[in-house]
Amino acid sequence: MNERRDYRVDLATRHDLLEVVEIEDACQLSAWGWDAYHGELARPEAIMLVARRSTPDWQTGKSLYGFIAARVTAEELHINNIGVRTSARGRGIGSALLRAALATGRRLGAHTALLEVRAGNLEAQALYRRFGFEVTGRRRNYYHGPTEDALLMSVTLVRR
Ligand SMILES: CC(C)(COP(=O)(O)OP(=O)(O)OC[C@H]1O[C@@H](n2cnc3c(N)ncnc32)[C@H](O)[C@@H]1OP(=O)(O)O)[C@@H](O)C(=O)NCCC(=O)NCCS
Repeated sequence: MNERRDYRVDLATRHDLLEVVEIEDACQLSAWGWDAYHGELARPEAIMLVARRSTPDWQTGKSLYGFIAARVTAEELHINNIGVRTSARGRGIGSALLRAALATGRRLGAHTALLEVRAGNLEAQALYRRFGFEVTGRRRNYYHGPTEDALLMSVTLVRR
């Protein structure tokens, strides 16, 4: 697709967090909430990125298409949450967020990236596979509401 990009991947600030929580809720992601994300902003090992629109939506005033939250611990980058508004999906925004988080994780010294994903979430799994993630395990009944297994996926981050 040759669509012009009308957003940029940017560091999240505290002013973004209300929208981040709104997207988290709309995407039915594991609920971290405002306080937890606010805490992440102060952690040097945390990566909080947003896809920021070039101009806010003139009708709603919304500025963000999506976000990703990750953290580097002991040379592992944990992708904790990624979400893109339904109306903005399929335009490469999830890929742009994941690409940026993996690059930042590498810079912070991560050798591997890990995540958990609902076994039935094929869209997200397809995205992760495109970035080289492979299934490395399964946690039975890991998710609730509805109960579902988690697939563990990981990829080796090659330093270049
Ligand atoms: C997963 C998610 C972040 C992808 O965001 P996105 O902006 O649509 O992703 P992209 O446009 O970059 O798509 C990247 C790849 O994802 C996969 N993908 C995206 N939408 C898809 C769909 N509807 N069906 C199948 N695959 C899909 C494809 O492999 C796609 O590659 P392609 O463009 O070459 O086909 C988004 O669907 C989302 O927010 N889902 C709800 C929240 C969620 O499930 N988060 C993950 C929790 S572990």
